[in-house]
Amino acid sequence: MKTRRSVLSGLGAAALAPLLPNLSQANTRSLTLSMPPLLDATQSGRFFLNAQAGKINFRDQSDSDTWGFNQSFLGPTLRMSNRGVTAAKVTNTLEEAISVHWHGLVVPGDVDGGPHQLVAPGQTWAPELSLDQPPTTAWYHSHTHGRTAEQVQKGLAGVLQLTDELDEERGLPTTYGVDDLTLVLQDRRFDRSGRMSYALSMPDRMMGFLGDTMLINGQVGATAGVPKGIVRLRLLNGSNARIYSLVMSDERPMHLIGTDSGLLDAPIALDALTLAPGERYELLVDFGDGSDVSLLSGQNTNEPMMGGRMMGRGQTSGPPFVVLPFTVDTSAKASITQLPSDLGGSRPSMALSGARSRALTLDMAMGPGMMMRRNSKQFSINDQAFDMNRTNFDVKLGQLERWTVSTNMMMHPFHIHGVMFQVLSENGKLPRSQNIGWKDTILIDGQAEILMRFEHPASESLPYMYHCHILEHEDGGMMGQFTVS
Ligand code: C2O
Ligand code: CU
Ligand code: CU
Repeated sequence: MKTRRSVLSGLGAAALAPLLPNLSQANTRSLTLSMPPLLDATQSGRFFLNAQAGKINFRDQSDSDTWGFNQSFLGPTLRMSNRGVTAAKVTNTLEEAISVHWHGLVVPGDVDGGPHQLVAPGQTWAPELSLDQPPTTAWYHSHTHGRTAEQVQKGLAGVLQLTDELDEERGLPTTYGVDDLTLVLQDRRFDRSGRMSYALSMPDRMMGFLGDTMLINGQVGATAGVPKGIVRLRLLNGSNARIYSLVMSDERPMHLIGTDSGLLDAPIALDALTLAPGERYELLVDFGDGSDVSLLSGQNTNEPMMGGRMMGRGQTSGPPFVVLPFTVDTSAKASITQLPSDLGGSRPSMALSGARSRALTLDMAMGPGMMMRRNSKQFSINDQAFDMNRTNFDVKLGQLERWTVSTNMMMHPFHIHGVMFQVLSENGKLPRSQNIGWKDTILIDGQAEILMRFEHPASESLPYMYHCHILEHEDGGMMGQFTVS
């Protein structure tokens, strides 16, 4: 266990900045954090999403033009059964094509919602999602090749909850928005009139978009009210590129109970958690002492290194910023006050023998040649930029696959569709404790080895994707596709 001083000072904390460094907070209202509306499809077995345009006044200034599902910005939390069939229906009332990918659902390529499955303006897409996987927190977002970053930025994303309705028996908090909080972490920029802006500079294109203002569930400057007891935080990093290094301001432990693709066997006490784009983590935090506390993050440190020199925007230093303040309502009775010891989940441990090996290197072209190269192969995997018309490889259904994924110059959150994987190693060592559960996205800083088995088919016309989840990198070509048959 690190001491209090070491963890916070590791994040550069001399003093706390109230928000990200460049932000002057325009409003002084105190806002209570709200949850995305809950759309519970466990009984009906069906849900409907309408991609629509809207306007949001984020900062008590001018309205921003936004997109969302069934509302102006972001979408509802879709709760569905982790086993059985749920019928989805997605209508696109926007003026450009979108797709809706179910990130974290282990479904065949033909309902995965990747870039080949566009929903044109005015069209409806109605896939049947047949699930059989552990309960978890996943998400959905647009995946239109070349447009993903901007479409997600404008709001085409939401949270998925897969449930077996046994969380009460597990001793986990289950009351949505009370002791079971869904938290979508995003950073955005606003212009002087308070309008959300997404204008990419050259460094933004290289490193991915970083905002200067924190949004939680689409809200700026909100505080979460919590009961005096144990609260479940379902964290989603829905940011385009920002990597959060999370700690509680008083360094109380964050008890990790779930990773991307399911619950652990037992909670693990962490003093810090890294949350990269696309990742989900579930935590229990004990507010039983009644004192107010904040969730903080260190600055984003993901900048290219060239010959040991930072090529970035110099945002790697600076004090931690507040992601979300919590106030404890001491009169609210908490339903859970004890940490559960047995979560009933699992840690993957597959036998290695017979695995087919593949090596993938996530590349970016940098340095003096970069300007000339412009968009040609600035981002690639194994030297190939994504091409909608090329299948990169074929995987055999049911075959054990061992992938060695490497990065250079920058960290990249690597995601694979249609599967949950075991992390075998990170830079030759056993995985960090936050990566011992089932994952579908892993932040790679050097090299990681992962192990998995694809149990569903994906065809040549509707293949699965693997890519960096920094959306500007993905759109720029750091993506590939494969079939499973
Ligand atoms: Cu969350 Cu292929 O993406
Ligand atoms: Cu995905
Ligand atoms: Cu990347």
